[in-house]
Amino acid sequence: MQDKVLKILSSSNDFVSGQDISQRLGVSRQSVSKAVKALRAVGYTVEAVTNKGYKLIAVPAYLNEVSIKTYLNTAVIGKKLIVLDTVDSTNDYLKIKGSSGCENGLVVASRRQTKGKGRLGRIWQTAEDDCLAFSFLLRPNIPPSSVGSITPLCGLAVCKAIRAYTGIDCKIKWPNDVVVGSKKLVGILTEMSAEFDAVEYIVTGIGINVGQVKFPSEISQKATSVFLEMGEQINKNKFFAFVLEYIEDEFIKNNLELTEEALAEYTALCATIGRNIKFYRNGNEILGKAVGVDKNGELRAVTESGEICLINSGEVSVQGIY
Ligand code: BTN
Repeated sequence: MQDKVLKILSSSNDFVSGQDISQRLGVSRQSVSKAVKALRAVGYTVEAVTNKGYKLIAVPAYLNEVSIKTYLNTAVIGKKLIVLDTVDSTNDYLKIKGSSGCENGLVVASRRQTKGKGRLGRIWQTAEDDCLAFSFLLRPNIPPSSVGSITPLCGLAVCKAIRAYTGIDCKIKWPNDVVVGSKKLVGILTEMSAEFDAVEYIVTGIGINVGQVKFPSEISQKATSVFLEMGEQINKNKFFAFVLEYIEDEFIKNNLELTEEALAEYTALCATIGRNIKFYRNGNEILGKAVGVDKNGELRAVTESGEICLINSGEVSVQGIY
């Protein structure tokens, strides 16, 4: 009810009478007044004037379920949404939900993570409300060997969403970081639970640096945020809904595969391709040049000795990035 009332109030710059709202929603005036109270409780400023009705004055800046739902138009991803104030890691939280049978498409976001996880066992640490940190769970009918396409597709969707929403000229650093120039804007971590040849569920966690106005000096040359790139704070709830829609669209359009079309877009936005890279194979450091990405999401590289290598995981440093 709150989200429906909020939709009506958001679509008007003026007062909307309680009677008008109750008629449009087919509910009592009392229910409308209860919904307005609930909106105020989560941080909305709603003015009420006798004989005029209600007017939305200000929306809360922090992540909250009611606001996200007013913007969200997805069919599966985020249909069920949980927004927490604090959690250890949204990925870990969702993996527990996944093991106890939660629905396909469940999204969990948190204003703060106490043990946020990065790739390769690293930590992902951010202050409250600075980072848009969320995870979504899918139960796709694919073999574990096909899961490699999920993270690049997700990286592509997030990169496209940020470009469209903010105008920032961001790129993908293979496999799925989103960078601006040489600085990281987004990190993605996909984890999977599988048995033999079947995937039970996949949890993909995404951290987008949105609100940071400053990074600690040790990472200030390596990290950036939407605020630092645009010089203004964005509506985090609206942006979150926008990103979820891009992810769902990309997944549906490509049937969870790196199709020719997706690969072409990925390649065009990939900052790694065409650059000199350094990676490790059997403990040896190898220098080469990234030349493409194949349909399993592997990076194709030509080494200094002219050998073609497919790289599917681990750390690749890209000259000029990190
Ligand atoms: C990386 O670049 O190393 C991946 C970072 C992934 C961070 C996100 S934040 C939301 C989700 N929950 C986690 O614990 N990690 C991911």
